[in-house]
Amino acid sequence: MAVTIKSERELELMREAGKILANVHSQLGKELKVGMTTLEIDRLGEEIIRSFGCIPSFKNYNGYPASVCVSVNEEVVHGIPTNKRRIQDGDIVSLDIGVIHRGYHSDAARTHAVGEVSKEAQLLIERTRQSFFEGMKYAVAGHHLHEISAAIGDYAESFGYGVVEDLCGHGIGTHLHEDPEIPNFRQFRRGIKLRPGMTLAIEPMINIGTADVVWMDDDWTVVTEDMSLSAHYENTIVITEGKPEILTLTDEEIAACIWE
Ligand code: MF3
Ligand code: CO
Repeated sequence: MAVTIKSERELELMREAGKILANVHSQLGKELKVGMTTLEIDRLGEEIIRSFGCIPSFKNYNGYPASVCVSVNEEVVHGIPTNKRRIQDGDIVSLDIGVIHRGYHSDAARTHAVGEVSKEAQLLIERTRQSFFEGMKYAVAGHHLHEISAAIGDYAESFGYGVVEDLCGHGIGTHLHEDPEIPNFRQFRRGIKLRPGMTLAIEPMINIGTADVVWMDDDWTVVTEDMSLSAHYENTIVITEGKPEILTLTDEEIAACIWE
């Protein structure tokens, strides 16, 4: 499938989808508490998504059974919510959510610190977020896709972190996953040329230890091979002639978000 350029009408719908998802994350993030099960997080997340009149895009996607991917500590992504796992003080909890709004997808992830987390965990969360914004410096029409990948990966690796290579970001639009694939580490090829109207979901997954990951027996949950902590940060963006539009931030986040 070719990389598509969205029309202004499509971008308008994707802006709406993105703003809704930003608010879903903001509402759900505030409800995270010690003692909650990951299934309760999923149920609440789905309720919030539906309160905006949207469909949770992950639910039943390739058989994934929930609306919110909840990945705790050494879980990298695609954790399956369960009533058997309760959030504990000091956990880091990644929430990955997708919504469909009037036929258009948005996709975003945040890693939250619950209670008192270690200094290393807090830094991992902050630097994973920052790696996304390092990538944004190159997410401009005329640059090449893998300049984004290299900026993310080089920044994360400068701290000695393991940058997950087995999973990528992706184009997004009328489908959750569209071309191109967007790696989070330096490539030998420069990738496609970025053009205005491309909509991309960029999602660094960064580990404190090894970059290697393994799939659990449920065929979904991805964990770090060395069981070190992992963080995830993702937004849906639009390429423009200038700074990219980041669709999945709340108005408050945009107001507070200053980057070069
Ligand atoms: N952000 C993830 C991705 O782009 C979420 C997909 S989870 C799934 O792959 F359940 F939908 F597969
Ligand atoms: Co994604």
